[in-house]
Amino acid sequence: MQIFHRIPAILGFAISFVFCHAARTDEKPMMKAVVAHEYGAPEVLKFEEVPRPEPKEDEALVRVIASGVNPADPLTLSGKYAREFGTHLPLIPGYDIAGVVEKIGAKITKLKVGDAVYGYPTFGGGWAEYVTAKEWEVAAKPKSLNFVQAAAVPMGALTAWQALVDVAKLQPGQTVLIHGGSGGVGSFAIQIAKARGARVIATASTANQDLLKQLGADVAVDYTKTRFEDVARDVDAVLDPVGKETLPRSYDVVKQGGIVMSLVARPDPAEFKKRGIHGAAISVHPDAEDLTEIAHLIEAGKIKPVVTQVLPLSEAIAAQQQAATHHTRGKLVLRIADDPKG
Ligand SMILES: NC(=O)c1ccc[n+]([C@@H]2O[C@H](COP(=O)([O-])OP(=O)(O)OC[C@H]3O[C@@H](n4cnc5c(N)ncnc54)[C@H](OP(=O)(O)O)[C@@H]3O)[C@@H](O)[C@H]2O)c1
Repeated sequence: MQIFHRIPAILGFAISFVFCHAARTDEKPMMKAVVAHEYGAPEVLKFEEVPRPEPKEDEALVRVIASGVNPADPLTLSGKYAREFGTHLPLIPGYDIAGVVEKIGAKITKLKVGDAVYGYPTFGGGWAEYVTAKEWEVAAKPKSLNFVQAAAVPMGALTAWQALVDVAKLQPGQTVLIHGGSGGVGSFAIQIAKARGARVIATASTANQDLLKQLGADVAVDYTKTRFEDVARDVDAVLDPVGKETLPRSYDVVKQGGIVMSLVARPDPAEFKKRGIHGAAISVHPDAEDLTEIAHLIEAGKIKPVVTQVLPLSEAIAAQQQAATHHTRGKLVLRIADDPKG
């Protein structure tokens, strides 16, 4: 049934690609990319041939092998971030990349042509054969991961790291409640919290209880059957990627001096003051040093991305539709080129 819904979109992609290919007139290097010329639903995306970006002096050009999918992609496409973060049209989605450095600008000091990297270009652009990135947006790809696995890491793992490590300063022996533990952020958050010696209570629906346990959660809560308040009490920190009523309900499970971190809402300071707890609205940012720390944990076998689906770039619309469900198990990745190591 689902495939029939996709046929017009797939045809649209194919037609626009053929048309753009035929209309090509200049000698500039070109690349295939997924492009939005207007804000809207995933169906506005077109698969086109566009000029390859040229790196500025403080940028590297990366040949993208794979690009991860995030709920931020459909949000960006909707135009929500145009004013907030300065996104503009035409836009190429894709915040997560893994690839190989093709060319470097004069002021690049650490990256070399041929380096395998992974990272998060601030304004996306990863759903293309090439993207430019600043040096502080990418780091060496963990050697133990292939490019598809590495592309699943940056935004999800950086968000979990910056919340749990930079903001909550999670310590060994502390207890953290992680909502949405089976999702893109939550699956990394559980593993990062365990790597730091914390006790983890994690929530997800019935179908994902097995995953919570595999990722290392000490207590797995099925939010469709059990109220998390009945299981989690006096925790040191809560990471909430869900929002709505999950956020205010989380305030009363935190011990005095503890912290509630939201990924999707601005928690109410008055509620925290009343309870003697802290609150934070997390906003992830690219950070090569954090990516390097995360890579060390990956190489040490403490973090593994959960890639549940790999799609070709031409399936970008379906990828965006899945990301918008807020029920992705682990990560969805777009494969853009063959892995250089085969
Ligand atoms: N502020 C930031 O910097 C930042 C950074 C990254 C992400 N985000 C936002 O954070 C949210 C999560 O991102 P993500 O990549 O983790 O998304 P995701 O991959 O779609 O995962 C969402 C997870 O939430 C679970 N879930 C849904 N409803 C739930 C509920 N009522 N209680 C507990 N779990 C529930 C789902 O599990 P089931 O399928 O089992 O229900 C799913 O695993 C998105 O809205 C995203 O835009 C914000």
